[in-house]
Amino acid sequence: MHKGLFIVFEGIDGSGTTTQCQVLTEKLATLGHPVAQTREPGGTPLAEAIRALVLDPKSTGIADLTELLLYAASRAQHVSEKIRPALMQGAHVICDRFTASTWAYQGYGRGLDLALIAQVTKIAEDGCEPDLTVYLQVPLALARTRRAKRGQVPDRLELAGDDFQARVANGYQELAKLNPDKAMAVDGSRNPNEVATEIWNGLRERWPEFPSPTPKAPTKNQGTR
Ligand code: TMP
Repeated sequence: MHKGLFIVFEGIDGSGTTTQCQVLTEKLATLGHPVAQTREPGGTPLAEAIRALVLDPKSTGIADLTELLLYAASRAQHVSEKIRPALMQGAHVICDRFTASTWAYQGYGRGLDLALIAQVTKIAEDGCEPDLTVYLQVPLALARTRRAKRGQVPDRLELAGDDFQARVANGYQELAKLNPDKAMAVDGSRNPNEVATEIWNGLRERWPEFPSPTPKAPTKNQGTR
C-alpha cells in the first residue's frame, strides 16, 4: 500500500505519452501536490544506461528474451530506487510507460509467450502496481506522422517496422479493455489541451479529492484556542 498515486501513460510511439505526463505533472505541482515525473525504460542512472542500450539502433542482434529481461531489469531498479520511495513519501508518481508497454511490445509485438510476460513483469514490478494506466489511443498513420515531425533519429523499437507497430497497437487495444477500474482509454488524436482536459476530468471522477491542493501547514495561532 502506498500513499501517493501511481499514474502511468501508455500508447504506441507518437501517441503523446510524454506530453501528457508533462502536462499532468505541471498541473499537480501548480496545485501544490508533491509529484515526481519519470519514465521507462529509465528513471535512474542504471535504468537510463539500460535504456540507452536497448533503444540504440546499433544494438543489433538482441534476442527477444534478452530485450524482455533488459526492460524488466530497468523496471526493477526504477521501482526500488525511485518509484516506491517517492510513493511511500506521499508523492504522486507520473510515469511515461510501465508494465503495459512490456505486454504490448514484447508480448503482442515480439510475440513472446504472454504467460512468460506475466511472470517476468510480476517479478520486476515487485508489488508496485499502477493505480491507473491511461491509454492514449491514436491511429497508426497519425502516430507515424507525429514521429516524422519530431525529426529525431528513430530508436531501435521505432525501427521494428509497420507490422510490429500494428501488433503493438492491437495489443494496447486489448489491454485497455482489461481491468476498467485501473484503466482509462482516451482518444489521443485531438490537440494536447483537449486530451489533457479529458484526462483531468477522468481523474477527478475517480478521485474527487485529487485536485485539491495539499493543505498548508497551520499557522502558529490556528487551532490553539
Ligand atoms: P519512448 O520512451 O521514447 O517511448 O521509448 C521507449 C520505447 O521502448 C518505446 O518504443 C516502447 C519501448 N518499450 C518496450 O518495448 N517495453 C517496455 O517495457 C517499455 C517500458 C518500453
